[in-house]
Amino acid sequence: MKKGVLLFFVSIACVLSALAADTVRIESPDKNLVCRIFMNNAGNLFYQLDYKNKPVVKPSALGFTLKNPALQLNAFDLLDKTITNSDETWEPVWGEVKQVRNNYQQVLIMLKTKDEVQLNVVFRLFNDGLGFRYEFPEQTKFKHFIIADELTQFALTGDHKTFWIPGDYDTNEYAYYTSKLSEVDATGGKFAQEIHAKTSFDPNGVQTPLMMKSADNLYINIHEAALVNYPAMNLVINKGNYTFNAHLVPDAVGNKAYLQTPAKTPWRTIIVSDKATDILASKMILNLNEPSTVANTSWIKPQKFVGVWWELHVGKSSWDYSGSQVGSQQIAKVPHGANTANVKRYIDFAAKHGIDAVLVEGWNTGWEDWFGQWKEDVFDFVTPYPDFDVKELSAYASSKNVKIIMHHETSASVTNYERWMDTAYRFMKNNGYNSVKSGYVGQIIPRGEHHDGQWMIKHYERAIKKAADYQIMVDQHEPVRPTGLHRTYPNYLACEAARGNEFNAWSFGNMPDHETILPFTRLMGGPMDYTPGIFKIKLNYSPEKKEQVHTTLAKQLALYVTMYGPLQMAADLPENYEQHLDAFQFIKDVAVDWDDTKILEAEPGDYVSIARKAKYSGNWFIGAITDENSRIATLPLNFLDAGKKYIAVIYKDADNADWKNNPEAYVIEKFLVDAKTSMKLKLAPGGGAAVSIMPVGNTDVKNIKNYK
Ligand code: NOJ
Ligand code: CA
Repeated sequence: MKKGVLLFFVSIACVLSALAADTVRIESPDKNLVCRIFMNNAGNLFYQLDYKNKPVVKPSALGFTLKNPALQLNAFDLLDKTITNSDETWEPVWGEVKQVRNNYQQVLIMLKTKDEVQLNVVFRLFNDGLGFRYEFPEQTKFKHFIIADELTQFALTGDHKTFWIPGDYDTNEYAYYTSKLSEVDATGGKFAQEIHAKTSFDPNGVQTPLMMKSADNLYINIHEAALVNYPAMNLVINKGNYTFNAHLVPDAVGNKAYLQTPAKTPWRTIIVSDKATDILASKMILNLNEPSTVANTSWIKPQKFVGVWWELHVGKSSWDYSGSQVGSQQIAKVPHGANTANVKRYIDFAAKHGIDAVLVEGWNTGWEDWFGQWKEDVFDFVTPYPDFDVKELSAYASSKNVKIIMHHETSASVTNYERWMDTAYRFMKNNGYNSVKSGYVGQIIPRGEHHDGQWMIKHYERAIKKAADYQIMVDQHEPVRPTGLHRTYPNYLACEAARGNEFNAWSFGNMPDHETILPFTRLMGGPMDYTPGIFKIKLNYSPEKKEQVHTTLAKQLALYVTMYGPLQMAADLPENYEQHLDAFQFIKDVAVDWDDTKILEAEPGDYVSIARKAKYSGNWFIGAITDENSRIATLPLNFLDAGKKYIAVIYKDADNADWKNNPEAYVIEKFLVDAKTSMKLKLAPGGGAAVSIMPVGNTDVKNIKNYK
């Protein structure tokens, strides 16, 4: 027998013999999930997760390799173990639901290595999944240390169907791949990906949140919660045994994390259910984050906005003053977008339609050489171009009760941004701004650092905290993907950290299944600034421009509900909305903060239908979307108050609509509905439907028919 094969059998035998003598077992409050944590004779620690008596994660290793001190933290003596139960309910400042229940069984396992290093592992088992983290308690002989590798494994039970993007240290703006685990090929495979700063590291590497479906229909999601002072975790698959190894993003010299006791890692999360809808309803990642540290949150407001933005992406106008955008595809010169008159046009539009705010990009000097230069001093965040009158626009916006959203593109020169941050936020306050969209396009400075490494993780958090000190809300683009930190910092309204709608403007775009995958992947960590609401689907703004959005118009409306976010852009141009004011009514009406959410039906990669109850008004809104296949969305309205009548306005694809050839064909219908109504709406290929449901109240309903 070959040595490798022998070792394989020995290690299986070790694990199995250890399994027999469980160190500890915890179960979820509903008893569906069981987690066993145990040691083998060598003191190696393993965990295993079962759902309804079937293994989800087979025995999987835990531990670290340290550099300085050079130690292996993977063989332990058990010092103690403590099981506790917890059940509490808390209220988010904003969110998908009014109240969140945080109910779990926990075990704290206290360990010591032969080198006398103390390490704890905490496992929390909820009805929706498992979270576990490492803690390095304060101790006399072990203080500062450098992590070379985290040894956490996730040993899956088979060749699951997987929704994945390539592992990368710098970007998550990839199109999704759907394949078996054994078919993961992060080198690109079928798509060429057009991304500015990417750093792939392994053909078997993938990013989290990673969504999987087993052959026996278990839905499994792996991610992390509360990523603070630590690098992000990628995963590398061993295709021989379907085991993922954690792969932390390194720093400029190849180290992973610099820590000092007492220290905690982020939580590793595994959300599991036999229903896809449960995955979307899970609040486990939020529950694993710390409560809000912002004491007074009255200034934090969910909001809708329009902006001088899409016109830049479709090449109608430019960020830079000279009109010849460096690095973009623009060949002919176009006007500078952020000029005072144009911004006023957007402010007028926002004021007329009750939209809270206007984003303005390209207002400040620096855009001439921001892209791809790896230059340190590009922007100063306080010097406007000569045609952007800060004072006049602030006064104008304020007279119309509209806010202007500040834009800070850092060009990933983070050293420079950190030097300017206080001055920039003070400048905002002095001019009446209370929200900032920041951006990190390009390679990071300090050179050699990565978007998802520990240094940048600390920066994103520092920027959010500092913004909170100035009572400023934050929307970060190109940051690390979120891990629920918006619970702790509710001024962190949204971020991008995935492939947004903008890719439809200038690349091969987002395929029609993209928005059916995002809720199961990227959105598991927190809200996304996806920028929905494109009405002019074919982007023929110039004769040579051939791109189009890969959805119907009605699906763009549905995204306001299916893509949860307290910050939602109405991304298209005012003149395009003017063409379809009847459909724009849905964007005006839809809420951005919710008392309740019902996931009506969902399947990753295929379809998602969600109903949400608006905060304050009691109105309900539904979004239903499909992939490239036409489909009937079945929407029972049994969440409505029994016995009460409502008016439902349905915005749906016309019968002959489809994303490619007839994307702007929609139909608007009005019906009386109640809790007994069940709607069946036909969604076009790449299509969707949006429904607003408002209590009848005093409205005259003579001419409105019952839904049937
Ligand atoms: C990329 C962002 O995602 C986009 O929204 C922004 O317009 C550009 N960077 C310029 O900052
Ligand atoms: Ca981006």
